[in-house]
Amino acid sequence: MLLEAPRVAERIGALTIYDTQRVLKLESSRKFQDTPMIKSVPHDIFEEYYPRLAIIVPIKNESLKLFEGVLSAIPQDITVIVVSNSFMNGFNRYRMERDILKAIHNFSQQPMIIIHQRDPGLKEAFKSVRYEHILEGDSVRSGKGEGMIIGLLIAKALGLEYVGFIDSDNYIPSAVNEYIKDYIAGFYMSDSSYTMVRLLWKYKPKIVESSLYFRRWGRVSEITNRYMNLLIGNLTGFETDVIKTGNAGEHAMSMKLAEIMAYASGFAIEPYELVYLFEEFGKFMEETRFKEAMSEGIRVYQIETLNPHLHEEKGKAHIVEMIAASLGTIYHSRVADQSLRVRIVKEMDEFGVKSEPPRPKIIPPIVGVNASKFLDVLQENTKTLEMFE
Ligand code: GDD
Repeated sequence: MLLEAPRVAERIGALTIYDTQRVLKLESSRKFQDTPMIKSVPHDIFEEYYPRLAIIVPIKNESLKLFEGVLSAIPQDITVIVVSNSFMNGFNRYRMERDILKAIHNFSQQPMIIIHQRDPGLKEAFKSVRYEHILEGDSVRSGKGEGMIIGLLIAKALGLEYVGFIDSDNYIPSAVNEYIKDYIAGFYMSDSSYTMVRLLWKYKPKIVESSLYFRRWGRVSEITNRYMNLLIGNLTGFETDVIKTGNAGEHAMSMKLAEIMAYASGFAIEPYELVYLFEEFGKFMEETRFKEAMSEGIRVYQIETLNPHLHEEKGKAHIVEMIAASLGTIYHSRVADQSLRVRIVKEMDEFGVKSEPPRPKIIPPIVGVNASKFLDVLQENTKTLEMFE
């Protein structure tokens, strides 16, 4: 792969956030020598990373065809962890997802795991390691973020060093395959073991008057990025436009970073990751919970894909819900100032929401959690977990 070398960056405390780097070629020659402008990721590097990587696929009642395409696009040496919140009553979608996953495993022997988010065994497992933040009543709460945390803990228990997230409703399997390579390119470029890679779509096509229009920015991303950049301005006193991936559903982390991150419930999870990084690592503090990360530094790469992103559109109410969740992470941040909050309330008003955006439910880091014990207890109590090795 060839991509633009990381050049421009915003440095905020221990955080280095690189500006967008475009993917220029998906396959590169072994003979290519890096230049100050262009970085190459040789083919064998991808193969080195695959067995160390888990791809977590959250799913809730998506088209089974799309789900199958996504799974088929994940390279064979990568461990796939599917966390589903799909219907089990009536037409048992979960059962169908499991059958698709098993069929792919049967012919490929790829390590693949599937679990239902509402599995009662999860309650026992989370209680056994005293990590009850995502429980509600007898099971784990609904929400994409909650599904991602389950996947993370399983990946941690398996000793995997990197985790990436891929939505299950992607129409283009080759795009999914590229996203994974983009993640690895970020890990390969990084000189820190605390690395995050967030993807920005080259285009997000939409059907307008019965033909495809290749949009550059989605509505939610445009708004979230604008306010996220203002938040950085609050912190540093300098205006910036560095953030282009405020809502990056497709993103990846080294496990060392993933473990020390706090998360937010539902669709607030991706914007909150940035807010958390600003709050926790955005200033050099004498007292920090994470000294090693502070001294090594945290790198955030934003990579612009070559493929367009074509996924299921979920309607206006869903968009408003995502905007509110995203702005809520910024509005309630301790680094936001009053004038930023006033602007956010005005923005919400334009979408017909008359109140302040919701405060995100925060899920603390999993760093102290005994993940092996979590998985053992889960295996003893589960009704849905299947691990195909
Ligand atoms: N396990 C689980 N549990 N998965 C869920 C849940 C849940 O409660 N809710 C949604 N998902 C899955 C969906 O099936 C899909 O695979 C993925 O999470 C994303 O959900 P969508 O509903 O398709 O979200 P979106 O496409 O509007 O937004 C995506 O892109 C945004 C950036 O543009 C998401 O990835 C957002 O998180 C992201 O901010």
